[in-house]
Amino acid sequence: MEFFTLENKNGMKLKLTNFGGIVSEIHVPDRDGTLADVTLGFETVEEYQDHNDAYFGAIIGRFGNRIGDCSFCLDGTYVSGLHANDGKNHLHGGKRGFDKVVWDAEEISGDGFTGVKLSYLSKDGEEGYPGNLQATVIYKLTDANEWVIEYEATADKTTVYNPTNHAYFNLAGHAGPSPLDHELQINSEFYTATDDGGIPTGAIVPVAGCGMDFRQAKAIGQDVDEAGVVSSRGGFDHNWVIDKRPDEFALAATAWDPKSGREMKVYTTEPGVQFYSGNFLDGSLKGKGGTVYQKRSGFCLETQHFPNSPNIGHFPTTTLRPGEVFKSKTVYAFGVR
Ligand code: BGC
Repeated sequence: MEFFTLENKNGMKLKLTNFGGIVSEIHVPDRDGTLADVTLGFETVEEYQDHNDAYFGAIIGRFGNRIGDCSFCLDGTYVSGLHANDGKNHLHGGKRGFDKVVWDAEEISGDGFTGVKLSYLSKDGEEGYPGNLQATVIYKLTDANEWVIEYEATADKTTVYNPTNHAYFNLAGHAGPSPLDHELQINSEFYTATDDGGIPTGAIVPVAGCGMDFRQAKAIGQDVDEAGVVSSRGGFDHNWVIDKRPDEFALAATAWDPKSGREMKVYTTEPGVQFYSGNFLDGSLKGKGGTVYQKRSGFCLETQHFPNSPNIGHFPTTTLRPGEVFKSKTVYAFGVR
């Protein structure tokens, strides 16, 4: 296992390890050009191996977020026995998901970027999923201050696939003041309602008039408690349906820290984004530089297909068939305002 540090012509830096494809540092300039590391994480691979229960910076697979009751029906075959690691449900790929495996890594570069190509063969039956799945994830850091993620995969049996990245952000710096005063705008009119276990029921609910409404930018903290009451999820921890055409590469969300001026725009080909306000961080994790990560000290914008899609026929499909090539792209673009 090793670390790779990417640096662009503006001095922006991104550090990652091939353990779990974890991005452990992202150094971004503020409006005065001062760099800060805006992602939560640890310093060593050992810490990520031992206690990355929060999935800091990791690739999530085979399935981002939850699958209800650890089972689903796929082309008439009942797939059961996914690992139950969230009550009776399956979360983020199971016991040893893509966040805990060692990826093959190859450094790459091209016009205006440097990067690392990560590859992993997930064997037939791993964590209960059918088919050998050959997955690649390319991370690039561009001279336009973008962190680009390109996912590809093929399978030799019909299966499901829904990867994402679980980076936590605080645009004031990972050790900085709470991001609850960051302004967030999400390009979405609907979210997928869940049961108390966080499993989408299939209902697609308008955000208008409730705390889930981020059509206009507002502080993350403004309605965070109301969201917790409405959903029993203890704050924002939901999938928003991005207002775009299928496969269109479009803006999903914009986060902005008024104090430092740092801004992050999230673009994706995916139909959904899980906005998670770090509700389960509780001060028990000590990260880089001894920083204690308190409740809601970082937030995630995880681009994805909707959680529990294999069980909800009218959600965009996560089925991957032999002969098909899964492709997905997400960009976190940093700037200042
Ligand atoms: C989920 C949360 C979960 C967290 C794990 C998020 O993507 O939606 O419910 O607790 O990941 O850190």
